[in-house]
Order: sequence, then C-alpha cells, then structure tokens
Amino acid sequence: LGRKLLIEPSVDSTNTQVKQRFGNEDEGFVLLAEEQTAGRGRLGRQFVSPAGSGLYMSIVLHPDLPLERISLLMLISAVSICEALEHQCGIWPKIKWVNDVFLRGYKCAGILTESSFSTGGSKPDFSIVGIGVNLKFDREAYPELADIAGGIWDETHHLPTRAQLAASILNAFEPWYDKLLAGESKELLQAYRSRMNCLRKRIMVSSPQGQYPATCVDLTDEGNLVIIDQNGTQTILRAGEISVRL
Ligand code: BTN
Repeated sequence: LGRKLLIEPSVDSTNTQVKQRFGNEDEGFVLLAEEQTAGRGRLGRQFVSPAGSGLYMSIVLHPDLPLERISLLMLISAVSICEALEHQCGIWPKIKWVNDVFLRGYKCAGILTESSFSTGGSKPDFSIVGIGVNLKFDREAYPELADIAGGIWDETHHLPTRAQLAASILNAFEPWYDKLLAGESKELLQAYRSRMNCLRKRIMVSSPQGQYPATCVDLTDEGNLVIIDQNGTQTILRAGEISVRL
C-alpha cells in the first residue's frame, strides 16, 4: 500500500476526490492532502482538517470481499492507527467503537470507509479507507469541539512527522488486510477488542429512535456491538447506524 502516493495541498475531502477521480487506481493508491476544506466524518459529520495540523489520507482498495466483511476494513484501520501511534510515540490509544481513536479521553483520529458498487454487484468496485489523525488540535479555534477532540501533540508532547505516521499506518494495515482477504480475522478482532474503551461499560446509544442507556457486552465476528439495555434485552448494533458515547 502507498507505493503510489499523491500529495495535494488542498482538497475538499480526500475521500470525495478519490471517489470522483481515482476509483480506477490500483489497489493501494493513496491520496494525501495538506488540508481539507470539507473533511467528512461518519453519519454526515464534519471532520475539521486545517492545514499543517493533521494527517488526512484516503487509500484505494479493491477488496474481493462480500459486503458483510467490508466493515472489517474499519476495524483494520482503527487497529493500524493505534499500532502506528504505539510504535511512533510509545502511547496506548483506545478505540471507541467503531471508528474513533482516543488518547486520554480525547478523539485524535477518525476513519471513514466508503465503497462503490456497480448495480447488482455483491463485491465493491472499489473501497475507500479515509483516515484522519489530528497531530495538533487548536482548541481555541474550535471551542465547540474542545471537550471532545484532541491531538497527538496536545496529549503527548511528542510529534511524529506526517510521513512517518502515514508510512507506519500503511505498514500496519497491509498484513491485517492480507489476512482479511485470506479469510482470517480472529486475530484482528482480538487486537481490536483489546483496545476498545467500552467493553463491559455503561454507554449511551444514539439511534434514529432516540437515546437510551445500555451496557456494552461484546463485539461480534462482523465487528458489530452487542449491548444489553435496561430491560435486559440484547441487541446487536451495526456500524453506520448508530453512535455510542461513554
Ligand atoms: C469520523 O470522525 O467520523 C471519521 C473521520 C474521517 C476523516 C478522514 S480524513 C481523510 C478522509 N477524508 C475525509 O473527508 N474523511 C476522511
């Protein structure tokens, strides 16, 4: 991955640009931007991406995987970001299901995976793995996010270069991805579970039907979250439909 890498100074969103211009690129093509003017997060949210403050990149993949296993790309990305930060900075980030990486209680990285299917196809023509890591987070510029978001520098006072971090994430991603394509995901799920911050904890679930408290009990082999609500009812939450907060 990343053997062909394009760096652009400013784009709306690297995921959007890949969708519009680079879907035909070979597996492993990476688009990296210095800044994003319309960085996107999950569930239609914004991902603030000012110049010089973060790593914003999208990887093109052509995974030979059925739809239900595509969501594991998000798990691979979260684990790879953690592994890269562990190696580069000697820190132990936590994963907030499904796609957020937290350091000392602040969100430092997020992932947005998107796939494009031609009509009737059961496998994607291409998938985009969009990764955003806040290297520095300017709390004064974004007071509305000050309680939620953080940056690697702000939490550790250690800063890897963007190139080091990108290479480290891609190097961590590749072996997990090869295993996933070979049908092996047990180890990945274990690596993900061991970094989750909500297992056996009380969480608040936000669904289209409203908010409700629950306890998080497990992660399924597809990467879905098993919760038990106050009535003792067990539910499986699928990524993409809801969000949880501790
Ligand atoms: C989230 O927080 O819900 C996910 C954030 C994902 C951000 C990355 S930055 C690179 C890529 N381009 C985007 O527009 N989003 C992803």
